[in-house]
Amino acid sequence: MSRQGDHRHEWKQSAHVHFQRWAHHYDRGMINILLFNPSHRRVLAQIRHWLRRGWEPIRILDIGCGTGTLLMHCLAFGDRIRSGFGLDMSENMLHYAREKAQLCDGQDRLAFTLGDAEHLPFPEAYFDLITCCNSFHHYPHQDRAAGEMRRVLRPGGRLILIDGCRDDPLGHFIFDICVARAENHVHHCSARRFERLLTQAGFDTVDQRVFGICPPAIMNIAGVEK
Ligand SMILES: C[S@@+](CC[C@H](N)C(=O)[O-])C[C@H]1O[C@@H](n2cnc3c(N)ncnc32)[C@H](O)[C@@H]1O
Repeated sequence: MSRQGDHRHEWKQSAHVHFQRWAHHYDRGMINILLFNPSHRRVLAQIRHWLRRGWEPIRILDIGCGTGTLLMHCLAFGDRIRSGFGLDMSENMLHYAREKAQLCDGQDRLAFTLGDAEHLPFPEAYFDLITCCNSFHHYPHQDRAAGEMRRVLRPGGRLILIDGCRDDPLGHFIFDICVARAENHVHHCSARRFERLLTQAGFDTVDQRVFGICPPAIMNIAGVEK
């Protein structure tokens, strides 16, 4: 393996160790209030908007789902969303996701799978909607992950990809300096890089919105034409 290959392998190991530990108190942290919950609210608002306009994402995949909070909120849309799949590389995160799901009405519509965002264990064109919040910066081969998202999305399907926005000075300080030091092996994309990655992966449209101030985040909505 090349030196770069070795180095990239370390990314996944380090993320795995980090999230295996974090899982036990993940839902209780301040960062949920500041970053994760607002990103989930954005996704839910976007889905609500689509449902009102008659676009029904029947089958959803949440990549890097953590403890499954976003998918559990999606159950509130009722059976217009028939199934939600959560994928994560951390067994402990999935343990809490499954435990929490047992307390939800409609839990039979949710499934949680251990896996890697860069090698999705799903067939082509399987999902109507893919979501990925606060996870993409951990992927060492972001082009591969974007390609996998495109592969498993059906024609007419959509992707919502949210991550920290490092394009302004505050975002650069938070994500490129503080988070990079604390977590090691992370790479937050600029808006331009997101656009390039998604376009090169085969998405036909990419719409980007920056939201939040401290910390700022970027929501990419990418679509595949029918
Ligand atoms: C900060 S958490 C975000 C969890 C959830 N999406 C949220 O918004 O609360 C990042 C998650 O991405 C997962 N992750 C990191 N790298 C991954 C990979 N290559 N494949 C799948 N999951 C990964 C981690 O295990 C972790 O649960």
